Amino acid sequence: MADGAELVIRDLRATVAGKEILKGVNLTLGAGERHVLLGANGSGKSTLAYVLMGHPNYTVTGGSVEFAGQDLLALEPDERARLGLFLAFQYPKEITGVTVSNFLRTAVEATRGEKVSLREFSKLLTGHMATLEMQPEFARRYLNEGFSGGERKRNEMLQLLALQPKLAILDETDSGLDVQMRQLVANVVRELASSNTGFLVVTHYEDVVRQMQPQHVHIMLDGRIAMSGGLELVERLGAEKSFDWVREEVSHGAVN
Ligand SMILES: Nc1ncnc2c1ncn2[C@@H]1O[C@H](COP(=O)(O)OP(=O)(O)OP(=O)(O)O)[C@@H](O)[C@H]1O
Ligand SMILES: [Mg+2]
Repeated sequence: MADGAELVIRDLRATVAGKEILKGVNLTLGAGERHVLLGANGSGKSTLAYVLMGHPNYTVTGGSVEFAGQDLLALEPDERARLGLFLAFQYPKEITGVTVSNFLRTAVEATRGEKVSLREFSKLLTGHMATLEMQPEFARRYLNEGFSGGERKRNEMLQLLALQPKLAILDETDSGLDVQMRQLVANVVRELASSNTGFLVVTHYEDVVRQMQPQHVHIMLDGRIAMSGGLELVERLGAEKSFDWVREEVSHGAVN
């Protein structure tokens, strides 16, 4: 399903509230690849995710983003979703009157571009909820209403499994997940990766990075990708306990 899909971000610049936050981001994700984005608080990781989602508060001031061969920035958020882009915080709003189940069926139909019978949908939903160890009653709750952090994350994982996107962008930063939930996220990432869903995961948790076994690790610093590599960057970060070494190496021209 993810054939040929890839994300190519070139010299992307963006402002929020008149302030430049993204200062020339370059990043390429091949189809089905797993990438992790690390970086200090405030370096622009969530901003990048919001810009890719098309959030109205963010103004793109330069550069380009190509996804599945199309100019992503020219598309509306729902068109981006139909192309196979999934953003974990895409639907953070509480929607009274819309249940988890109804929402998901609409989302599946919207991305597939065709009706899904109740019978087929129920089967799909039951299977994925079992995988995620979710109680069946959860499907009848109103979307995001009173969800705990863990329930919100489970619901996102349910959407991911049901939608099977070409590329999922997960911004974990504020989720405060316990060890078990982090494991669950990593498991879903690995399961979907085997069906060729690509991932860009923003995280501060070393265990998430290790469990999802990314092929690429990037470190963001002051609105740019300062360094890219593999898991050795995580090792180094664990040993150094700060991003100062990245800053130093960048200023000495040792990378890029
Ligand atoms: N709506 C906004 N108004 C003003 N400043 C903003 C807004 N959104 C983001 N910023 C600023 O942009 C900068 C980057 O924020 P961003 O949330 O992208 O960082 P981050 O790398 O995701 O950090 P964290 O690891 O803490 O989640 C911060 O200085 C933040 O205060
Ligand atoms: Mg963030």
